[in-house]
Amino acid sequence: MTSAATFDFAPLLPAGLPPPAARYTGLPRYNFTGGNNDAEQVPVAGLIAAMTAVMQREGPTLATYGLASGPQGYLPLREFLVAKLKRDAGIVCQPDEILVTSGSLQAIDLVNGVLLTRGDTVLVEQECYQGSLNRLTRLGVKALGIPLDGDGMRMDAVAAALADLKRQGLRPKYIYTIPTVQNPTGTIMPEARRGELLRLAGEYGVPIFEDDCYADLIWDHRRPPALHAMSREGNVIHIGSFSKSIAPALRVGYIVAPWQVLSRMLSIKTDAGSGALEQMVLAEYCAPHFTEHVPALTRGLRAKLDTLMESLNEQFGTSAEFDEPKGGIFLWVKLPDNVDTLKLYPAAAAEGVAINPGPEWSTDKSYSKSRMRLCFASPTHEEIREGVARLAEVCRREFGVPARSANVTRARA
Ligand SMILES: Cc1ncc(COP(=O)(O)O)c(C=O)c1O
Repeated sequence: MTSAATFDFAPLLPAGLPPPAARYTGLPRYNFTGGNNDAEQVPVAGLIAAMTAVMQREGPTLATYGLASGPQGYLPLREFLVAKLKRDAGIVCQPDEILVTSGSLQAIDLVNGVLLTRGDTVLVEQECYQGSLNRLTRLGVKALGIPLDGDGMRMDAVAAALADLKRQGLRPKYIYTIPTVQNPTGTIMPEARRGELLRLAGEYGVPIFEDDCYADLIWDHRRPPALHAMSREGNVIHIGSFSKSIAPALRVGYIVAPWQVLSRMLSIKTDAGSGALEQMVLAEYCAPHFTEHVPALTRGLRAKLDTLMESLNEQFGTSAEFDEPKGGIFLWVKLPDNVDTLKLYPAAAAEGVAINPGPEWSTDKSYSKSRMRLCFASPTHEEIREGVARLAEVCRREFGVPARSANVTRARA
């Protein structure tokens, strides 16, 4: 067989498949997209040592699906998570309430898989993780966006939405929130508001789906307890990830949920276990090193955020507005109203600068039209400075703003 073979698969494809993926053509020169991390901060030496130690000790257990730990994931990793979640998020749980997944994207798929059906309604944050929004669209589920302020989801809006749905005889299947370093806005929901959210969820009989993907990356390392920890009713499904604290290519995430739903997720997790090597290396590395690794990582990320904010101020001046995030890897930026970031995106990409246009990260396409999300973790400091300068050039050429940059006034070309 050669690559010129011409068998036509098209007539065999079932209706309703998503559109084909684009071929990978390499990473952009200035990459401000995605949830990629800082290459220099991957603890490579520590992971190599952990890999050697765990393989020497337990390598033969790879002969069994699920190692010797069963289908919920490598037991020492779940034990590490029990201790970590207690220490950092106040969650009290047992290893058998945790399911290790192939990234927290699989966790989202499993939660959706057991709870959602076409035509359902869920509440989400108006600005929200694209991966979650896309999944809901594909499932034919209505995602009702709740506006945010500097403390996350607005509770007056949650209360109004729940009351309004109830009047229509509808009960949303869940309230999805990223309360601890929100993606893309970088806010942290304070404890009192978490209490209010739990009260409303309890009153209307709606579970909360808590996505704590970025919770390890907080500049001052102070966070309120997780919604899961504060819930007295057991109505919170909590997910997390090692993608942002260690490395996204490892593909390891997890779910903490009551057995009643976790057991249903286990039955639809049909991959016979998530990759075992990654789980073994993570457990071996994280148990002794996680608490020293994370502060070093966040120091480096914070320095990159400073470089990004300085570069935006220098190149865009008052044309770029943003609130400083409390942690994480993203800055959510507002450009002047006439800028359409869906159009800025291809123009910037042609110059090697990749950005995430706002409308892909929001349920409100007009509010987000002139907004964009910039990831500052993966570009170097130099790339951040150069990339922002190029982006300002492109934005000026396409939209006439910023009129002035790096103290030089430019005429519109
Ligand atoms: C809020 C949120 N949840 C989940 C994910 C999925 O991450 P992963 O599958 O790498 O754990 C991401 C990725 O960026 C995210 O931003």
